[in-house]
Amino acid sequence: MKRIGLLTSGGDCQALNATMRGVVKGLANNVKDLEVYGFMDGYKGLIYSDFRMLTSRDFSGILTRGGTILGTSRQPFKQMRTPDANGLDKVEAMKHTYHKLRLDCLVILGGNGTQKTANLLREEGLNVLHLPKTIDNDIYGTDMTFGFYSAVNIAANTIDCIHTTASSHNRVFIVELMGHRAGWLTLYAGIASGADIILIPEIPYSLEHVIEAVERRRERGSGFTILAVAEGAIPADIAAMSKKEMKKAMAQITEEYPSISYKIAADIQKATGMEIRVTVPGHMQRGGSPCPYDRILSTRLGSECAQLILDEEYGYMVGLDGTEVKKVPLGEVAGKLKNVDPECQEIIDAKRMGISFGD
Ligand code: F6P
Repeated sequence: MKRIGLLTSGGDCQALNATMRGVVKGLANNVKDLEVYGFMDGYKGLIYSDFRMLTSRDFSGILTRGGTILGTSRQPFKQMRTPDANGLDKVEAMKHTYHKLRLDCLVILGGNGTQKTANLLREEGLNVLHLPKTIDNDIYGTDMTFGFYSAVNIAANTIDCIHTTASSHNRVFIVELMGHRAGWLTLYAGIASGADIILIPEIPYSLEHVIEAVERRRERGSGFTILAVAEGAIPADIAAMSKKEMKKAMAQITEEYPSISYKIAADIQKATGMEIRVTVPGHMQRGGSPCPYDRILSTRLGSECAQLILDEEYGYMVGLDGTEVKKVPLGEVAGKLKNVDPECQEIIDAKRMGISFGD
């Protein structure tokens, strides 16, 4: 007999359902009795004891379905120790729900913030397992998160579409992609779709160098230029400031422009006189069906998670190391971010291709 709780927390992504299916199928095929409690809308469901009892049938036919059948919400880790509006101790409430239902394990799907709360619950004595989701691919301790390649597909398709219209009109196009703190999505989508300039948070850009790259293409006879810009891209002069000053300078930019891409567009337009457009695919990047890679990754991570539950091994994130699925102690990874290393092979290769990073 196994009793497990499942919850999805934080921003959604494409393969949440596929991963839960992997966990439940992996258990249902290997234990006699299985009870699955699905907590609604992330940690909220665990705090307020809002759950549904699910059967294997609920997980049938959801391998390809985007979003999450459980719903999700953002419950900031920082506020977990702060009582709610009615004075409820959220951590104690979550522990109470867990013990009331006599769960063997809580399986938590989410990104960095979610992982920190999962680790807190582990420290509080609950059996937890974490499965790494995010289109940002910025979770430390796993080479890949599910959702990432599905988002890369959408972002790359967007840039592909922009490419044809940009070349027809001889325009400069900026495609702004998600990623406030990590540039993996922009880097991969940019390379996949032949962007000319890629700007990511990990490599602060000099506007001068960006303009030079645009001009260089014009001099070589390419009338159009495509920039893939992460929403967290940052100018080098601002990146050099103290944290407080940096926040202020970035806030000033977003007071004047909808986002950093519009500021870059205005600056390039002013310097080159070229026609510029900005495209922001936004939450489309998290939507729709998971790509085949993510379906396979999710099935493998879910399957390993089921095995850990069968073996009664708890307190881990199930991640990918190269091509191998591995358990990683939550305490060793929670709170750490996996950023793009500006010296990594992908960047070296991209620069060899002539892609400018504005540095
Ligand atoms: O963490 C995933 C992510 O999609 C980021 O890339 C993006 O910056 C953020 O979530 C958007 O959050 P929200 O859905 O709250 O607008």
